[in-house]
Amino acid sequence: MSAPKRVGVVGYPVKHSRSPMIFEHWFGRYGIDARYDRIEVKPEDGEAFFATLADSDLAGVNVTMPHKAVAARHAKLDDAGRRLGAINTLWRDGAAMAGTSSDGSGFLKSLDAQAPAWRGRGAALVLGAGGAAVSVADALAAEGVAVRIANRTEAKAKELADLVDGEVVAWDRLPDALAETALLVNATSLGMTGSGPLDIDLSPLPAQATVADLVYYPLETPLLRDARARGFAAVDGLGMLLYQATVGFERWFGMEPAVDDELRRVLLATF
Ligand SMILES: NC(=O)c1ccc[n+]([C@@H]2O[C@H](COP(=O)([O-])OP(=O)(O)OC[C@H]3O[C@@H](n4cnc5c(N)ncnc54)[C@H](OP(=O)(O)O)[C@@H]3O)[C@@H](O)[C@H]2O)c1
Repeated sequence: MSAPKRVGVVGYPVKHSRSPMIFEHWFGRYGIDARYDRIEVKPEDGEAFFATLADSDLAGVNVTMPHKAVAARHAKLDDAGRRLGAINTLWRDGAAMAGTSSDGSGFLKSLDAQAPAWRGRGAALVLGAGGAAVSVADALAAEGVAVRIANRTEAKAKELADLVDGEVVAWDRLPDALAETALLVNATSLGMTGSGPLDIDLSPLPAQATVADLVYYPLETPLLRDARARGFAAVDGLGMLLYQATVGFERWFGMEPAVDDELRRVLLATF
């Protein structure tokens, strides 16, 4: 009898990761004999861990803070991984490891699932310039969407705008920019339980606009509630969290797992 396939999430700290719940749900659902471990690797041990990962018993890993850039230095990268220089999903490719960043593709899959009419509507405005904003802005730009960035710290908005060939919007010019926005994405931590509110007036948005929030706790943020009340298509952050995990699952187990209401309920029960 062969040993169960072993995969996991590497980070520090890693004990709060919800990834094991997602994968264990899929293992049960598809009858897969596998283990998904939380693998705690201290920052100073990251280099050695990823340099020798191909020699380990792991079929692949997800990666979270603070190891995404180190992981990228020890894997064959796809286009997204190369552009971002940081990855969160690794799998075996012959004798070596290959990797990608699945946050951006997870975000696009979530948009396609929750607001399929978003494509081809026009420019995106991304609020924020942290790690999540970079992945989302990059994925949108790679799809040919014109991207604008607004961030409290404008120097970071400029850096991200340069990366995606986009434009910077000054935070105090948001009302003007909203009038020309087809897709508004909150990639700041504002609106998350414990953070401050995202104070934004959605009334200038065109009627066909889509509003996406990467924050998933609470699931229905004040931004999404306001967007729905105004009749805009609204996309929550849980979809991105779940869809980004499908990329590793496909690489490791050769099939695309379902992201459905049952899985959403499993995850929501952990909040
Ligand atoms: N749905 C998913 O799968 C998913 C994945 C990743 C992240 N997220 C969520 O996305 C959010 C951002 O995550 P991250 O990893 O990008 O975090 P991060 O790198 O720490 O970036 C935080 C961003 O929020 C902005 N911000 C924080 N406090 C602010 C304030 N008081 N006023 C204005 N802007 C403020 C920061 O602006 P400055 O640059 O000015 O500090 C920065 O742009 C979090 O809520 C996270 O939970 C969701």
